[in-house]
Amino acid sequence: MPFPSEDIPDRVRIHEVGPRDGLQNEKAVVPTEVKAEFIRRLAASGLKTIEATSFVHPKWVPQLADAEQLMPMLSGLDARLPALVPNERGLERALALGVDEIAVFGSATESFAKANLNRSVDESLAMFEPVVTRARDAGAQVRGYLSMCFGDPWEGPVPVRQVVQVARRLFDLGCTELSLGDTIGVATPGHVTELLAALHEVGLTADRLAVHFHDTYGQALANTLAALQSGVCTVDASAGGLGGCPYAKSATGNLATEDLVWMLNGLGIDTGVDLDRLTATSVWMAAHLGRPSPSRTVRALSHKE
Ligand code: HMG
Ligand code: MG
Repeated sequence: MPFPSEDIPDRVRIHEVGPRDGLQNEKAVVPTEVKAEFIRRLAASGLKTIEATSFVHPKWVPQLADAEQLMPMLSGLDARLPALVPNERGLERALALGVDEIAVFGSATESFAKANLNRSVDESLAMFEPVVTRARDAGAQVRGYLSMCFGDPWEGPVPVRQVVQVARRLFDLGCTELSLGDTIGVATPGHVTELLAALHEVGLTADRLAVHFHDTYGQALANTLAALQSGVCTVDASAGGLGGCPYAKSATGNLATEDLVWMLNGLGIDTGVDLDRLTATSVWMAAHLGRPSPSRTVRALSHKE
């Protein structure tokens, strides 16, 4: 094997974000039954963690305003189904439906904290504090997201030290895992390695971290490989490369799950995902959305015959 496989983890957990990060960004609201079918098909293709929706203010993200209708349609599915929760109101809505895995979502920059949460960084962490405590007390797992870890559309490049500080504070609140977001897709592999080394230096080791790359500049796969080489073994991806963020205009689709699985398969890393089935799911979803998937792997595999 030409690639030094001892440098990378044997196992990678894929955290599928298509139904949440992907569909939150669609202009047209996708019918709830189509979302449920999308999630069922993702689970049937072997994905074990599928971020299903958000319990945010319905006016802020109308695309996901049907969380109450969607979650009960997924009961019994053989997959973890985390959901985004920004505040206590959102937590109450999630717990009432039996959601047992949530994610709070902070920002390394003041500009995005304000745009996305209507709060400063300090205020947003204060908003999360009772959410994390109450969720953990209720037995729920709590992921933290940290957005704008590399660059911010208003503030430009984000200093590594600033990211490390907010990351530390999210773990101090009680998050069990932290996903490092390249919200606008500007990271490059050297920057990823540098940030992970700086986090490692303060005890935030790769086993507690995930990476969340958007693919604006086509760097998401290269960045993922750099993260794997730094010991990260949880990678966020979105089926078909759906995605973006309605509060960061320069955000485009996430790393496509199919592109990730193709690379991992080539590296001999088993993900348990059936790539043909996943591709068929993204082609099916693209037909609902009325445009082809931007994923190169989806395009290649679906045009093979
Ligand atoms: P706010 O306007 O400051 O809200 O928004 P508020 O706290 O002042 O409350 C105003 C009213 O909203 C109240 O109602 C609340 O009850 C209600 P009233 O008393 O006036 O009748 N309210 C809610 N209702 C339902 N569910 C709720 C909720 N919260 C308050 N959860 C807020 C603050 C945080 C709510 C708002 O800013 C918000 O919802 N933001 C979410 C934005 C979002 O979802 N962005 C996308 C996800 S982040 C992302 O995509 C990045 C990521 O992928 C990683 C990466 O790529 O970097 C994760
Ligand atoms: Mg995102």
